[in-house]
Amino acid sequence: MCGIVGYIGENQAAPILLDGLSKLEYRGYDSAGIAVFNDYNLEVAKAKGRLSVLAEKTDNGCGVRGSMGIGHTRWATHGEPSDVNSHPHLSMSGRFAVVHNGIIENYISLKKELSGKGFEFISETDTEVIAHLFEYYYNGDIMDAMIKVINRVEGSYALGVLCSEYPDQFIAVRKSSPMIVGLGDNENFIASDVTAILKYTRDIYYLDDNEVVVLKKDSVKVFNKDKEEVIKEKFTVDWDVSAAEKGGYEHFMMKEIEEQPKALRDTISPRIKDGKIVLDDISLTTKDIKNINKIYIVACGSAYHTGVVGKYVIEKMCRIPVEVQVASEFRYCDPIINNNDLVIVISQSGETADTLAALKEAKNHGARILSIVNVVGSAIANASDDVIYTWAGPEIAVATTKAYSTQLAVIYLIAAYMAEKLGMLTSGEYAKFIEEIESLPDKVEEILKSKEEVQYLASKFFNCHSIFFIGRNLDYAVSMEGSLKLKEISYIHSEAYAAGELKHGTISLIEDGTLVIALATGQELFDKTVSNVKEVKARGAVVMGITTEKHENMEDVADYIVKIPATHEMLLPSLTVIPLQLFGYYVASLKGCDIDKPRNLAKSVTVE
Ligand code: AGP
Repeated sequence: MCGIVGYIGENQAAPILLDGLSKLEYRGYDSAGIAVFNDYNLEVAKAKGRLSVLAEKTDNGCGVRGSMGIGHTRWATHGEPSDVNSHPHLSMSGRFAVVHNGIIENYISLKKELSGKGFEFISETDTEVIAHLFEYYYNGDIMDAMIKVINRVEGSYALGVLCSEYPDQFIAVRKSSPMIVGLGDNENFIASDVTAILKYTRDIYYLDDNEVVVLKKDSVKVFNKDKEEVIKEKFTVDWDVSAAEKGGYEHFMMKEIEEQPKALRDTISPRIKDGKIVLDDISLTTKDIKNINKIYIVACGSAYHTGVVGKYVIEKMCRIPVEVQVASEFRYCDPIINNNDLVIVISQSGETADTLAALKEAKNHGARILSIVNVVGSAIANASDDVIYTWAGPEIAVATTKAYSTQLAVIYLIAAYMAEKLGMLTSGEYAKFIEEIESLPDKVEEILKSKEEVQYLASKFFNCHSIFFIGRNLDYAVSMEGSLKLKEISYIHSEAYAAGELKHGTISLIEDGTLVIALATGQELFDKTVSNVKEVKARGAVVMGITTEKHENMEDVADYIVKIPATHEMLLPSLTVIPLQLFGYYVASLKGCDIDKPRNLAKSVTVE
């Protein structure tokens, strides 16, 4: 949601801004705009709709001349998508141009106050108050104005600000919204994430909350709220440009599905040394683990589905009670937490607003926070006591695949690590589990080799109006993810049900030809799921069964079968999910859907 790019250097800014914004399109947006200092004043171009409209309006940026500028893709929250509501917003005199990602929670009272002082508002956005506040507080010193502004606004913000009286510099700040600083050679950048500037530099600074950065073409200085300079550590991003490009694939989603074996290897291998799981990243001691009273797992969407798998796995292996909650509910349910509880927060982007708020809620109750995050230096990572990164690399498609898979891998590592410390595994069981985790990437690769089988099944069912996913225990957890994957990109109605629950109401929806995808991979409950399959078959359902190569009885009841390799029972979700991701992808592709950018969705959900 909302993307920001800023540039200062020796080149023309506008084409660089448009190029950077194109790399942020995946975040979701419905309008775009740029502001460039053209040697005299701030020139603004904005357009509702796709970035291509803005590119056309500005002759691919060539129509807006100047070597310092800021750009923005807006995902509408306050006010409809329109030219006037798009960013950048100008202050009344035109002296300041502002781009903003986040929400200013007290904008109504600020708007009233500023209106009372004669400021006129032309948009419905919360951001416009920031532009006017700059004007109001400006006394010739932009840094002073910035500090005063951030002292007045409440909420979350990443801001890029141009001032026509500062032709050789611009200023930026972030709080609870993402923004990194890119360090180039005689050119410097800000961006919502590194993908936007990877083509120009891989050297970056991560900013902490309320650190203000002043960018000139040949220098970058960071200050705290007391205007003291902060010396930042430079990070070099180790992905190259191709990591964030399609590389011959039609869609990022398929590229990312195919990248899963590598992402799993990158996430698992560095954490297994000499036959032991080594979690150097975390400070939890054996004593801490023994003292854990309860674990909460808090997340949204697919990350929540990882949590559902986590509940089964951690409870089974560690015998510690685990409660999984969607973050948007957790924060308002007055959770009963104390300082002997561990809260595991899961997020690909590390910036999901509800997840971040839930984390803060848990922290206020004294819980210890362990997060599983993909984006280094993100708000959730920064706010956690411990972070285990998923090394999935940049994930661009809105529908997550490789991030989900690597989150699962981290959950397995945590479960086995804690189980070993708690003495819940024999050395043989521990060694076998590790061996099986290490073999997951190869097994995923094996499934991907026969992806055409799933493509064939998709071709039979892409016209369905409604599809049900059923399973028990871990298979149910994966059903939820399979169903979400399908519906978010293909727009086919779908529901996931615990197989045994169907007959308590939902089975009335099953009629002749309804597709039911039945997951039956676990040994213990296999026969029970087969009975549920028979129940839906008896009501006319067509059944696609997903099972392992060990199970043969499924052939007798299902119309179509997809087989996955066998592995440790707890690890099956990592394999079961692969055909489901492929099914969602192929169905959406056959329907001609915008797979990487499904309607109404954003990759990073930075609003509540
Ligand atoms: C999954 O395909 C979704 N796009 C979505 O559910 C996502 O997992 C959710 O919004 C959480 O995002 P996060 O992992 O970045 O916090």
